[in-house]
Amino acid sequence: MSKLFDQMRLDRLLANMGYGSRRDIQQWVKARAIVLDGAALSDADQRIAITPDLSARLTILGHPLDPPPGMILMLHKPVGVTCSHKEAGPLVYDLLPPRWRARKPAISTVGRLDKETSGLLLLTDDGTVLHRLISPRGNTSKRYVATLARPLRGNEAAVFASGTLMLESEDKPLLPANLEVMGPTEARLTLTEGRYHQVRRMFAAVGNHVAALRRDRIADLDLPPDLGAGTYRLVTSEEMRRLGL
Ligand code: URA
Repeated sequence: MSKLFDQMRLDRLLANMGYGSRRDIQQWVKARAIVLDGAALSDADQRIAITPDLSARLTILGHPLDPPPGMILMLHKPVGVTCSHKEAGPLVYDLLPPRWRARKPAISTVGRLDKETSGLLLLTDDGTVLHRLISPRGNTSKRYVATLARPLRGNEAAVFASGTLMLESEDKPLLPANLEVMGPTEARLTLTEGRYHQVRRMFAAVGNHVAALRRDRIADLDLPPDLGAGTYRLVTSEEMRRLGL
């Protein structure tokens, strides 16, 4: 069965992707600087099918097109950057090419990691994907590796799995979470919900303190070992399957 893709006027597509005004794009078309499948485009209002392989087929001033709308990125978030569009200080969006800031629809993080948490972060401009991954009904699991300030006592796995643990100033118990003890002060915790500072508050509730926190997995997708801190890449179709998409 053939898949139907959205179509959009070339000038609108490129303006929405942050390349410039529709007028800029008309000028590039006149200069024969936009090339699709090896042939210069002559019409700025030509309709273009937005296919996943478009970046490999369309060049602008000799450079491949940025990922077309519908992108999902994985980023290895370093400590010290904030998951926000507007807060002060270094933002995760500063790690992406500046042009991507002007995209419509905007690229957003799929949920958030604290400023002091590192690890696997997804970003997308696709509202449906965002909703599927963050909706409580989607049940997407997230795994965190916590380094603790004090040795584990031994009862934490049972407390976290109980489904009765209440966090301070909340009125609903946490869903059961799975704790794997890796060492006296290191553990992996898998959650299926995402409350504010949840991992740090869970360990605080059992008398400990998280000294360092890293997310290493979302659903069945691991943070790739070769994705260095501060770098990103597109999620492949195999990885989308691992995310349940
Ligand atoms: N729990 C936390 O405490 N921080 C995060 O960034 C994610 C989960």
